Amino acid sequence: MGFPEIRPRRLRTTPAMRRLVAETDVDPRSLILPLFVREGAVEPMPIPSMPGVVQHTLDTLRKTAVEAVEAGVGGLMLFAVPERKDAIGSGATDPSGILNVAIRELAAEVGGATVVMADLCLDEFTDHGHCGVLTPDGQVDNDATLERYAEMALAQAAAGVHLVGPSGMMDGQVGAIRSALDDAGHTDVGVLAYTAKYASAFFGPFRDAVESSLQGDRKTYQQDPANAVEALREAALDVAEGADMLIVKPALGYLDVVRRVKDAVQVPVAAYNVSGEYSMVEAAAAQGWIERERAILEILTSIRRAGADVVLTYWAVEAARLLRRV
Ligand code: PBG
Repeated sequence: MGFPEIRPRRLRTTPAMRRLVAETDVDPRSLILPLFVREGAVEPMPIPSMPGVVQHTLDTLRKTAVEAVEAGVGGLMLFAVPERKDAIGSGATDPSGILNVAIRELAAEVGGATVVMADLCLDEFTDHGHCGVLTPDGQVDNDATLERYAEMALAQAAAGVHLVGPSGMMDGQVGAIRSALDDAGHTDVGVLAYTAKYASAFFGPFRDAVESSLQGDRKTYQQDPANAVEALREAALDVAEGADMLIVKPALGYLDVVRRVKDAVQVPVAAYNVSGEYSMVEAAAAQGWIERERAILEILTSIRRAGADVVLTYWAVEAARLLRRV
């Protein structure tokens, strides 16, 4: 050993010492639970590629929301599976469409105790499965899509949402939504913008969860996994257009992007621990190949350490309970 003897291990000697010097906390209040609700469902439907996650009925959605709030989870992010789909995603803007009905119910049930958020995107509602409307030759039409997003924001705001989560990666989506909300007097409804959403294989199980009809891919609007500087450009645009908070997604393969975005902006940054990341751990744990609870807490800690203020995770309720136990 050199002199003086500098021994970093002194700070690792006991559980109490390690607890004292831990740099990162995961607090239940920083976790958001994504929830799926299915139109017309009379009982919750398991999602085979996401063991432990279901498509809720309106009734089980409400109960699960209450449980999440009781566990201390910080917010809820709603996704819906409509009964019918069409070319423009009409169900998304219909006040009696499943997503808007579910927002209304959650706002009434737990809106005073938590933050109610909803996905603002057309992919669950379109028969072609794209996040926007199409031109006659089948391209995703950016500017026509912005008009649909603005209408969707108004429908969600009327239903009582606190934050809308535009996830379609259309240029100008935050600005279009912000203006529409402001013009209609919904100045308090915030925009939680998916800033850096990558064209990722890790969304696979989610597409089962929402019964996506997508053929092909989303590479003309979602980002290339090779790019990080581009995420900073998207972040600057979203903030300039009025985003209140940003999301990086997926989380685990993109922790460098989480850190760089966090260092570049002055709004809270969230990271989405997506379906594929969830299912990999669940599958390995089911085989006995990984210690499930330790893996979950390690993943959430890593995402927070990378700079995420908030983490969207399907484990939110379970993690909140685990964290309170220790
Ligand atoms: C699109 C959307 C997707 C996810 C959230 N919102 C999927 C996609 O772009 O195809 C993925 C979430 C996950 O994988 O957990 N509305």
